[in-house]
Amino acid sequence: MEESELSEFRRTLVTSALPYANGRIHIGHLAGAYLPADIYVRYLRMKGEEVLFVCGSDEHGVPITLRALEEGTTPKAVIDRFHGENEKAFKAAQIDFDIYGRTSWPRHHEFAQDFFKRLMEGGYIEKRTIEQYYSEKMKMFLPDRYVEGTCPKCGYEKARGDQCDNCSATYEVTELLSPHSTIPGDGSTPVLKETVHWFLRLDLFQERLERWIGERSGWRPNVKGGAISWLKEGLRPRCVTRDTEWGVEIPVDDPDARGKRIYVWFDAPIGYITNTAVWAERSGRPEAWREYWQSEECRIVHFIGKDNIQFHAIIFPAMLAGHGDYILPDMVVANEYLNFLRAGQSAAEKFSKSRGTVVEVGWFVETFGADRLRYYLTAIAPETSDSEFSWRDFRDRTNGEAADVLGNFIHRTLSFTMKTFGGRVPPPQQAGEREERVAEKILQARADVGRLLESFQFRQAQNALMELAREGNRYFDEQQPWVTRKSDLGACARTINTCLQIAGALSRLMAPFLPGAAERLARMLGMNDHDKPGSWERIGVERLAEGHEISKPEILFPKLEPDQVPE
Ligand code: 2FM
Ligand code: ZN
Repeated sequence: MEESELSEFRRTLVTSALPYANGRIHIGHLAGAYLPADIYVRYLRMKGEEVLFVCGSDEHGVPITLRALEEGTTPKAVIDRFHGENEKAFKAAQIDFDIYGRTSWPRHHEFAQDFFKRLMEGGYIEKRTIEQYYSEKMKMFLPDRYVEGTCPKCGYEKARGDQCDNCSATYEVTELLSPHSTIPGDGSTPVLKETVHWFLRLDLFQERLERWIGERSGWRPNVKGGAISWLKEGLRPRCVTRDTEWGVEIPVDDPDARGKRIYVWFDAPIGYITNTAVWAERSGRPEAWREYWQSEECRIVHFIGKDNIQFHAIIFPAMLAGHGDYILPDMVVANEYLNFLRAGQSAAEKFSKSRGTVVEVGWFVETFGADRLRYYLTAIAPETSDSEFSWRDFRDRTNGEAADVLGNFIHRTLSFTMKTFGGRVPPPQQAGEREERVAEKILQARADVGRLLESFQFRQAQNALMELAREGNRYFDEQQPWVTRKSDLGACARTINTCLQIAGALSRLMAPFLPGAAERLARMLGMNDHDKPGSWERIGVERLAEGHEISKPEILFPKLEPDQVPE
C-alpha cells in the first residue's frame, strides 16, 4: 500500500529559496517555496528521517542598494531590518528552519569566493570585454533589472533586463529590444559602452547537464521541461559579475575588477551551503556540513518559485559540478505563482505593493492565525498552474472545510465523549464490519498522504487527510450515537471509540500541514507523541486505550464572520 523510496539515502537536506532582504515576504512567497518545504520536512521527521532545513536572506543585488538610496540609508541598514522581520514572519507561520542565515556573513563571502576561484582554475570562468548599457544621465552602468524593454523571445513589452516575467526566458541584457532605464528619476535610453566582466562558461557543461537532467525522475514537468528546453537552445557563457559596490568581492588581483562584484545570482545559491556550514558550527560539529553537500548519502531537495528554475536546474548544478567537491541536487520542486483576485473582478493580478495587493505574512498570522493561513495556502497551492487567492474563497474554505469538516468532527466526537463517557475513551467492544472499514480507511489515509507528500503533491495530500475527516463525519452520522446512547450503550461506546481513533490518527496526519491545530488536538486527546520521530508509522496502529482520559474540547477552527475578512 505504501512504498517509500526515501530509505535509499541516509539524510536529506531541504532548502527554500533565499528571499531578498529588501522587502517583507508576502503570502504568495509563502505558498511558493516555504510552506510546501516545511510540510515536507515535518513529514520526513515524523517518518524518522534525518533531515536539515535551511533558508536565509539573499542580501546582495542592486534592488537593495537602490532601496537604501531611496531611503537615504545604507544597504546594511536595509538588510538588517528585513532579515529580522522576515525571520520573524516565517516563525509566526510556523515555518521551522534549522537555520535562517545571511549572505552578508563573512563565511558566505569565503564560500562564494572559493567557488569563483575553483571555477576559474578549472577554466570555467573567464574574463571578457563586453558592451553593457550605461545611463549617461545617472553616470552608471545599468544593472539588468533596471533596464526594461521588449522580450526577444515572446515580445512582452515590460520584460526585465535579464529575464522575462511573461515567458520566463532568460537572456543577456543586450538582447532586449527597445531598452530604457527604469532607475527612479532616470527613464533615459541607455547607451552601450565597453566594460570588462567575468563569464561562467555554461557551454562547457552542456553535455554533462543533458545527461544529468535526462536521468532525473519524478521531477515536475515545469522544472524538467524548462531545463530541457534551455538545454535545447544551447547553453551560452553567462556574465557572473556586475558593476556595483555591494556584493561579494571578485577574488582576482586585477584592476579591472574595481567597482565590480560577483553577481548576486552566483552567490545566492551558495548561501544554502554557507547556512548549512554555520548550522554545523553552531551545533558543535563544524565539519558536519560536508555530510550534506559532499556525500552521496545525502539527497538535496530545493523548493523554489518558477522564476528560479533555471538557476537551480541548470546554473547552480553546473557550478557544483565545475567546482568538483560537491554533489548535485536530487530534486528541484518549483511552484507556479499565486495571484490575487480582487472582489468583483474576474481576472487575478500579481501581488503588488504599489497596487496595494500585498498581503504580508506577519499581519496575516496575527489576524487569522497560522493554521488558517497554512490550510488555505495548501488548498490552493499553485502546483501545476498559477492559482488565485481571494478573501472570499479564504473565508469560504476555512469555514466550510477546516471548521465544518475537520473541526466539527473533532468537536462532536470529543463533546460526546465528555458528556456520555465522563471524558474517558469508552470500551471498543467487538468491531463490526463498518469499524473494520474505518480502520482500513485510516491506514489508507496514511498511505495516501505519505505517497502524495513524497511525490510533492501537497494539495492532494491535504485533501487525502480531509477525506479521513469526512469519513469520520459520515460514520458518526450513520451510527447515530445520540440515538444508541439511549437504546444500546455498547454500540454507542463502539462508535465513539472508533471516532476517537480517527481523531488520534488525524492529529498525526495533520501535524505536517497544521502543526498548531495538530498540537492542540493532541493535547485534548492526551497524546504526547503525535509528531515525534517515528510517529507516522504508528498512525492506525497505535490506539487510544480504553479508559484513557481526554480533556475538555476547544474549537479547533473558530468560524470567521463576514466582517472579519477584508474585501
Ligand atoms: O528570487 C529570489 O527571491 C531570489 N532571492 C532567490 C534566491 S534562491 C537561492 F539561490 F538563493
Ligand atoms: Zn518573454
